[in-house]
Amino acid sequence: MFATLEPAPADPILGLMVQFRADPSAHKVDLGVGVYKDDRGATPVLDSVRQAERAEFEAQSTKAYLGPAGNDNFNRLITSLVMGSDHGALKGGRVRTVQGPGGCGALRLGAELLKVANPDATVHTPAPTWANHVPLIGNAGLHLQSYPYYTPGSAGLDFDAMIGALGKAKAGDIVLLHACCHNPTGADLSHAQWREVADVLNRRGALPFLDLAYQGFGDGLEDDAYSVRLIAENCPEAVIAVSCSKNFGVYRDRVGATLVLGETPAAADLALARLSRLARGMWSMPPDHGAAVVGRVLGEPALAALWRDEVETMRKRMVGNRRKLADALARETGSGRFEFIAAQKGMFSMLGLTPAQVGVLREKHHIYMPGDSRINVAGLGDANIDFVAKSVAGV
Ligand SMILES: Cc1ncc(COP(=O)(O)O)c(C=O)c1O
Repeated sequence: MFATLEPAPADPILGLMVQFRADPSAHKVDLGVGVYKDDRGATPVLDSVRQAERAEFEAQSTKAYLGPAGNDNFNRLITSLVMGSDHGALKGGRVRTVQGPGGCGALRLGAELLKVANPDATVHTPAPTWANHVPLIGNAGLHLQSYPYYTPGSAGLDFDAMIGALGKAKAGDIVLLHACCHNPTGADLSHAQWREVADVLNRRGALPFLDLAYQGFGDGLEDDAYSVRLIAENCPEAVIAVSCSKNFGVYRDRVGATLVLGETPAAADLALARLSRLARGMWSMPPDHGAAVVGRVLGEPALAALWRDEVETMRKRMVGNRRKLADALARETGSGRFEFIAAQKGMFSMLGLTPAQVGVLREKHHIYMPGDSRINVAGLGDANIDFVAKSVAGV
């Protein structure tokens, strides 16, 4: 029966990785794939993670099943990292956490819960959003609809249009929001704008579904959680999907969590029980290794301090690269039109190039990025920033 399958469309980013590897050029630059890279272009295991892995290896006495909700220690500590340890919603007993296989697993689990809770809900997603949101949430059976978010060309947030569209959401609808470091645009909401969003969602009776995949990569670990903490303070219900892939560098270990905020502790318990059932029906139990390691990093003060320093080092390198690229492009183009790169947050920005210009950068200059001209600023470094700026200005 497989012979009659329609060929599956290729994943553009994974295809780009293959093309990049095959390119023999000595000065090729990969700005495509979404992993953090240091100045040497490597994605090393963090020291804090390595130390925790060694300790875990010595301490682990069994590999017996844990259960569909995963590692309790990890769930408790990741919840504190995201919410802050003294958040009112935690004290009020309204938050429950289930470990998931990566941020993708956490998003899917959240979507499955929302589908059970309100089968007819529409999920409003920003335009543009991370491409994988569409299958992760859509394949749970939920209807997706875009809301305006960003105007390419002006390289800015279209906040008025966004609020206008969210102001038409129906009661029981779901609004997907990137908690920080929007992927692919790097354009984030200000604190005042987050407050407006929380107000409009409450007015409409819509439920916020927050995707937090880059905590610590924008303005810092605490600032980047502002949106989640504000929503949890002001909204009766929310779902938050957390990824540890980037800020702990544990991409392949698949570590994430789905947090649910219920209107009451009893409602949160119902959601927790349902999440466990749903997880049991999909992957039964999430992989433990990465979560145990992240739990150990967060739970041991010396490791936690080391990890916070390492996150800050990654963040500062990306902020520095943004500044340097914006300056180099200003020199090359004689204009301030790329200044937005320095102001935006996290790992990604969109240069605003056409697919044809992106093609020329790849064919002629060996610079790789997806067709929407999203760049991973961590792929830049002192060795290639001037070259990239000259090439971009050239197209
Ligand atoms: C916006 C966003 N959400 C979630 C994820 C999930 O990441 P993972 O499943 O690797 O933890 C990513 C990864 O690139 C992302 O960019």
